Amino acid sequence: MNTRDLEYQSGFRNHFASEALPGALPQGQNSPQRCPYGLYAEQLTGSAFTAPRSHNLRSWLYRIRPSVAQSAYQPLPTGPVATAPPVEPAADPNQMRWDPLPIPSEPTDFVDGLLTVAVNGDAGAQTGCGVHVYAFNQDMHRRFFYNADGELLIVPQQGILRLRTELGELEVCGGEIAVIPRGVKFQARLGKDSDAARGYICENYGSPLELPGLGPIGANGLANPRDFLSPVATYEDLSGDFELVAKFSGRFWATHLDHSPLDVVAWHGNYAPYKYDLACFNTINTVSFDHPDPSIFTVLTSVSDTPGMANVDFVIFPPRWMVAENTFRPPYFHRNLMSEFMGLIHGEYDAKAEGFLPGGASLHNSMSPHGPDAETFEKASQAELAPQYQSNTLAFMFESRYVFQPTPAALEAEFRQRDYVDVWAGLRSHFDPSTP
Ligand SMILES: [Fe+2]
Repeated sequence: MNTRDLEYQSGFRNHFASEALPGALPQGQNSPQRCPYGLYAEQLTGSAFTAPRSHNLRSWLYRIRPSVAQSAYQPLPTGPVATAPPVEPAADPNQMRWDPLPIPSEPTDFVDGLLTVAVNGDAGAQTGCGVHVYAFNQDMHRRFFYNADGELLIVPQQGILRLRTELGELEVCGGEIAVIPRGVKFQARLGKDSDAARGYICENYGSPLELPGLGPIGANGLANPRDFLSPVATYEDLSGDFELVAKFSGRFWATHLDHSPLDVVAWHGNYAPYKYDLACFNTINTVSFDHPDPSIFTVLTSVSDTPGMANVDFVIFPPRWMVAENTFRPPYFHRNLMSEFMGLIHGEYDAKAEGFLPGGASLHNSMSPHGPDAETFEKASQAELAPQYQSNTLAFMFESRYVFQPTPAALEAEFRQRDYVDVWAGLRSHFDPSTP
């Protein structure tokens, strides 16, 4: 389902301009002596000032009060939310899998409903990422959140998520994604008719996500820029006691404001939240034999300082035609340098007969072998190779050059499948030296 009651601006990191009141954006300059309507001008940057123009990210916000109008920060407990580097690294070569994070039985909001599965790199050094799952059943009302440690790539699996941000509102459901840039204040609520929501988050400490280069594919294909949607300016002028939770240097901190921080009346720039419907992804794959590597399914990438080695890639396995001739069609057995966290948004994943559930997750760290389970291998080796549309599936991967360190909360979780490795136990020898 696609929710369309909100207004959006189309394009990937365009230089957008939006005002909730006519004439609220200053014309011809960013910081006039007096802004229209008595607003304050505030710049929010997502890159160093001197970043190359192609990667320079900043927006100018025109707001009722500047962000400095808040109390001192006080530390808050972080619960099961962790940040890299971990205090006690627990990287493990074992393949791991989890059932879905249970929907809480007690009233729980988005921030309290976060659990970190794994982290890698070093948030303070702006490398790596944190992988979280969330499940919540209560709206944030007088509570807001921002993350100084990274941008948030949110992958909803169940329920509709209404993200009320400083720069406007976004709504996303299963099959869509949202990205909240580092530092942007927001509040998560449940969308219409949703009594609970669950999903995955990649907290990207590194270079902001961007569209991958297309190389020989050409100018079109994969995720096209015009399908990315950013919100339009909207604001509330509310007084009262409002809590702003910040994630900074691996800890939660709270500050209080006597007004809602969603008081940006107009903004312009290319640093803004965005959403994307994964159904818009122009999937490209073989029309002859074998598989291109799964990098062909990359939606967004966070580059590292080594060309071609992503800090983290967001890759999807969407509905698609399978037409390869004389080919074992499910994902092949493999061992990779890169480390892979996978989730399932809906349907089934073609490498696993059972056990990988929508809302569940798996982790295959660097060089740990994985691939189809025994049942899938037997079936796919004998399958009739007619063109086949694989409709009931939407899986994704956060793939990183850095080894994932699972957290104690994830290792000890009741919903972890401790017998995951057994899915490959039935792979028997078919070797017969007398039969080429
Ligand atoms: Fe893999």
